[in-house]
Order: sequence, then structure tokens, then C-alpha cells
Amino acid sequence: MEKIVSLGKRRGFIFPGSEIYGGLAGTFDYGPMGVLLKENIQQLWLALFRDSRDDMYGVDAAILMNPKVWESSGHVAGFSDPLVGCEKCKRRFRADHLDDPRRCPTCGGTLSEPRAFNMMFKTHAGAMEDESAIVYLRPETAGGIFVNYKNVVDSIHPKLPFGIAQIGKAFRNEIAPRDFIFRLRELSQMEVEYFVRPPEWEAAFDAWRATMHAYADALGLPRDAVHEFEVPAEDRAHYSKRTIDFEFDYPFGRKELWGLAYRTDFDLSAHQRGSGVSLEYLEDETKEKFIPHVIEPSLGVDRTVLAVLVSAYREDELGGETRAYLALSPRIAPVKAMVSPLLKNKPELVAKARAVYAALKREVPQVAWDDNGNIGKRYRRQDEIGTPFCLTIDFDTLGQENQTAPWLTDTVTLRDRDSGAQERLPITDAVARVKEAIR
Ligand code: GAP
Repeated sequence: MEKIVSLGKRRGFIFPGSEIYGGLAGTFDYGPMGVLLKENIQQLWLALFRDSRDDMYGVDAAILMNPKVWESSGHVAGFSDPLVGCEKCKRRFRADHLDDPRRCPTCGGTLSEPRAFNMMFKTHAGAMEDESAIVYLRPETAGGIFVNYKNVVDSIHPKLPFGIAQIGKAFRNEIAPRDFIFRLRELSQMEVEYFVRPPEWEAAFDAWRATMHAYADALGLPRDAVHEFEVPAEDRAHYSKRTIDFEFDYPFGRKELWGLAYRTDFDLSAHQRGSGVSLEYLEDETKEKFIPHVIEPSLGVDRTVLAVLVSAYREDELGGETRAYLALSPRIAPVKAMVSPLLKNKPELVAKARAVYAALKREVPQVAWDDNGNIGKRYRRQDEIGTPFCLTIDFDTLGQENQTAPWLTDTVTLRDRDSGAQERLPITDAVARVKEAIR
């Protein structure tokens, strides 16, 4: 983990939140490379879970919602963790994370009896700071989907089964945020609520389960590091009748990566009761009315980013040196290719390299220009970012100029990140190779 945290900071992926003020526990900021990686991971999710399907729609709901939403959903009463405090050193812990819930793991002091600690962040909407103005930062993006179910039905008229997908921030006042971006207080989720006729729930559950495995494959997570865990009834969330946790072998142990839940009609029924608005679905043909049931694949973005970094991190010997690199799938790599002139003090090389860079960037936006330091250092830097290809313009490129079709015949060297091997090929072929790899 130390190596990943250090690479994350050194190469502009992930920084501690508010770092110059000493940080804020449970918060991290994504830097220039992290933003691109996170966006690519989200784009891949959108492609697989929403855009490649005919039965999926998107929403982008507000984070602040009417507090009645969280009363109806059961979060005000029950979204809590068991909190214990040490009478001696005053530290606080989650009782269910301790081997001995009576003894302080730090100083050995006596721990208090567990009490339910609600994890929702509270704030006030408007100028009054009294009870009537309390609003919550949403603890899951799902709430914004359920309250928009009727809006989507009334505006788009989808036929069952159909689903609503959303990516967004969620907030949880975790008692013990830890393990880098694994357990955060401010996190991002990618969630689907898929509405079905009640007898169809099992088939839909299995179909989404398969989609989640397909997504893990597309991200490049090794199959033997992803495990399904059937969550027993006593450990399931209050709304779920069946939950499978997708667990991942992180360096700090096997832990939950994503969840798949059968939420029954719990949420729509609760919001119908709480709001007084009918959320029944009307079958066109039979005129039957009922509350649809829900299958929910819920994926944390940050835990996915961490699993991707853990899976991609490699060290090997190359050119007599130990190097670290990220073997990221080209589809999600923040930079697809780096273009550089062999020497930066040769204007003719720089001009040609700039032309190749501009041509490639028109076709593939996520390419980088790098002329800092010697070529070996540039390659090492790009290896750590996970850039699959480096295109270098050298004197051989120039030597072939002034022909009738220079883009077809001029050559560059194309370096492969994982093997470090370089080959000389026409510029058009190098561009085609990059495009093919990310397709
Ligand atoms: N809507 C269902 C729901 O929120 P959850 O199991 O509480 O279910 C879903 O959370 C996913 O969100 C988890 O599988 C995980 O990927 C992510 N997640 C939950 N709490 C998190 C935290 N404190 N920090 C980072 N990710 C978290």
C-alpha cells in the first residue's frame, strides 16, 4: 500500500484532502492523472451499465434532499454503526471491527458499551440553524433515484423492466476512515436501481451479477482477486432480502469492493407511504397496478480506483534498473500515448514531434507531450502513470521527409510500456495502433 500511496502522490493521482492544512481524515483529492483515471473508470461503467442497453436511463439528482426522504428510507432511524469509546485514552472505535469489543486495541483500557452512531452528515438549509432546517448530505446516491422514479416513468414512459443509473457523491461520517481511499467520509458511487415485476427479480439479479463480473474483467481486475460473498440475513442492510458482496484482495485483506442487493419494493413502498404520492406502476395490457421490485448493483468509485491501482502495480528489471509501472488497460489509462522529440534542443525534431502530437491529439484526446529530461526519464515517468505507448521522433524520422506522402512513409519509434520494446513504424500505423488498443 505504501508504494501505491507514494506513487499516487508523486505522479498526480491522489493527494490527501486539504493537505497544506494538515489534512482532513476520510477525504482525498484526485489530481490531474487521478481525475482522468476516475473519469475513464466511470465512462466504462456508463458504457456497460447504461449506454449499451435499451432499458437504462440516467439522472443526476441533488445531494441535498428533503429530510423526509431519509426518514422514509430508514436511514434516520437505522443508518448507524456501533460506537465504543476508550475510558482511558478517549479514542473511539467501531465495535464490529474489534477482536475484543471490551478492550481498547491501542492502550488496553476499558471500552464503553456500544451505542448506535448515525453516520449521516447533518447541515442546515437556509439562514435558520434550528431543528426545522436540518438537511442531510445523502449517504447513498440511491435516494435520488427512488425519488425520481415517478418523474422518469411520467416523462419517458419506460416499460418494465427498466433501470435508472447515477454517478455521484455520497457522504458517511465513518467512525474510523482508513486504508487510503478504501473507507472515506466523502465518496463517489455508481448505482443502478433496476425496476422489475416481482417474479422477475431472480433473473435480473443474476444478469446484473454477470455484468458486474464483465466490468471487473474490463477494468483488468484479476479474476482470482475478485470473490463473491453471500451476505447472511443478519448482516444485510435493512432494505435487502438478498445481498452478494463482491470482495477484492486488497493489500490489507479481502474486503468489500461492490454490492449487489435485492431491495424488494422496500424503498418505493416506503416513499409512497412517506410522501402520500402513488408510486405504483400501471401495466398497459392488464391494467394491473403494483409497486415494482428493485435490483441494485452499487459500486464505489474510489474502491474501484484502488482495486485498479493495486491490480496494475508492477515492478521489474528493465535496462539494468528496477522500475515501477502501472499495467493499466489502455481503455482506462489516464494518458494513452506520450509524444516526444528525442532531443529538445533540436528545433527540427521538436517541430516534427509537435506536428505528430497535434495529429494524434485530434484523434485521441488523452495524449501527452513530454520533453522534460532525457528520454529514459520520460519513459520511466510515463511507465509510472501507466501510459501504454510512447512515440519518439528522432533523426530517422526527419531523414525521410519531403516525400509525396510523408504521413504514410515517415516513421517513429513506438515503445510498449509493459515490455519496454521499441519498434520503428510509419506514423499512421503508430496512430492506428494506439486507437486500436483503446477501442
Ligand atoms: N445504495 C447501496 C449502498 O450504498 P453500501 O454497501 O453501503 O450500499 C455501496 O455501499 C458501495 O459504496 C460499497 O460496495 C463500496 O464500494 C462503496 N462504499 C461504501 N462506503 C464507503 C466508504 N466509506 N468509502 C468508500 N467507499 C464506500
